[in-house]
Parts: sequence; C-alpha cells; structure tokens
Amino acid sequence: MTTTCSAPGKIYLFGEHAVVYGNRAIASAIDLRTTATVTESNKTTIVSSLGTTGIDYAVHPYISRCIESLAVPAVSIRIDSEIPVGSGLGSSAAAVIATLGALNCEFDLGMDSTALAELGHRIEQDVQGAASPTDTLVSTVGGTVMITPGVSTSRLRLIECGIVIGDTEEFSSTKELVENVRILHERYPAVMNSIFDTIDHLSEIGVAMIERRDYQSVGELMNIDHGLLDAIGVGSAKLSRLVYAARDAGAWSAKITGAGGGGCIVALASDADVAAVVSAINDAGGHAIATKASRDGMMIAD
Ligand code: MEV
Repeated sequence: MTTTCSAPGKIYLFGEHAVVYGNRAIASAIDLRTTATVTESNKTTIVSSLGTTGIDYAVHPYISRCIESLAVPAVSIRIDSEIPVGSGLGSSAAAVIATLGALNCEFDLGMDSTALAELGHRIEQDVQGAASPTDTLVSTVGGTVMITPGVSTSRLRLIECGIVIGDTEEFSSTKELVENVRILHERYPAVMNSIFDTIDHLSEIGVAMIERRDYQSVGELMNIDHGLLDAIGVGSAKLSRLVYAARDAGAWSAKITGAGGGGCIVALASDADVAAVVSAINDAGGHAIATKASRDGMMIAD
C-alpha cells in the first residue's frame, strides 16, 4: 500500500529565538508544502532532492529518525518539497510531520495530531540539539498560532494579507545560530533577557492587532522585532538588503524569519503592493516567493 501526506512550512511574525527561552511567539502556516509518499517495501529507501539513501543520518537525518523512532518495517519514502531547505521556513519540520503522518496512516499506528506534533518536536530536538515546538506544531495544525512553550497554544485569526518571502539562498544552520545565541545569552544574560522580554511583549500586543486585521501595526512591531534579531547577532548584510528593499517597495513590514544568518526574510504587504515587493526583492539579489497564510496543517491525500 502507499500513503501520501503533506504538511506546510511556516513564517514567524514574532518570537524566533526568544521562543527557545520560553517566550511567546506567533507563527503562521503558509501555502508552501512538503509531501511524503510512503510505500511498504522489502528495503528502506529515502528519496529527496538531497539524494537517494537508506537510513542515513548524514544525508537524511530527520527522515531516518522518523523511521527509527516509529520502529516500522522496511519502507520506501519519497519527499517532494516546495519549501527551500535550510531557509528558516520550517522545511525540516514539514518533512518530519508529513513523514510521521504518512507512516502513522500506512501502518495504522493510531497516533493523534498532538502525539505526532510532540514526536516531531522530539525528533527536531534530537537532530538539532535545541528546538522549540513551534515549527512542528504549526506544520501539524496549520493556521496562525500563538505559542507559549510548555504552557499553551492558541489559534488566532488567519493572517489575510499578502506575504512575500525573500530567500537569500544562503544556507543557514539553525543548530549553529541557536548555539551562537546561547553563547551570547551566557555572556550577557541581563541584556539578552531584556531583549527576549521585549520580543515576548511584541507577541502579546500583536494578538489584538491580528484579530482586528490591522496589518500596518502588526508590521510596525515586526520591524521592531527585526531590529532586535539583528541585535542578537542573527542578521546578515544580505538579509538587511532584502528587508530594506521590501520596505522601500511599500511592504508594511520586513524581517528575518526563522533562525537568520542566511535563509529568508518575510514581508507583509497589501495585495496591491505584493508585485512591487516581489520585484524589489528580486532586484536586490534575493529570490522572492509570494504566498498566503494557510489554514491547512498536516493532510493525508485521498
Ligand atoms: C528556527 O526556525 C526558529 C528558532 O527559534 C529555533 C526554534 O524555535 O527551534 C531559531
């Protein structure tokens, strides 16, 4: 038998890095998805844009971990993704959740979405060293979500404006960036904690603005968050170029999304301004992708 399951990538409106220290974050699933197709087989193979392997922690660490942690019989797994890898858009979480969802269905394991999101989070932690539950949770449930790590998750009104991603096409390692921030936090705990407190506050006051669809104000807060991410050392010259190109083209906001270092920026813009923001990001040397927020989390294909 064969099962196909897909799961979305995500953007952060507020709270990357701060969320690793228990602070609130707001993230949204987007219309870019990863699909896992699982077929029972006499030999385990994993096929993706990274290559074809068996269980292989060098090439396919996340998928290898998914297969081993569920202790399922031999399978062939094919991963197809619209989400650029290592870009801060939750590509690994989407691959993990799509794979777990497909294996769960194919082998009738009876896990509900909470159990799948929790296992996905543990897999990300094992592979990356440190990971908040944000990426795997948003990929499982979809929508625009506020996360208070270890406490609660609440679904917010779906973001309804234009979303433009600007990919620097420079690979960024979440593990390394989280480690760099940890070192800075160890050296300057009071300074770093006050930055994280401020980011936490941005998430808190952002909720009401999202509910009343005031994306201009949401954007002002996102721009503040970008400055704070730069302050904790996860910016880069190219990320800044794309951020300012998007803002100059009329975006309400533009900020790093995800771990930073390379990877992507996210800009919010009115539908009328999306084309100009896309051109400005491309002209500044990035790769722009216009997308929308998505209600859909993990889905088994018919
Ligand atoms: C990476 O997409 C976001 C970080 O906050 C790490 C995490 O939440 O696991 C940097």
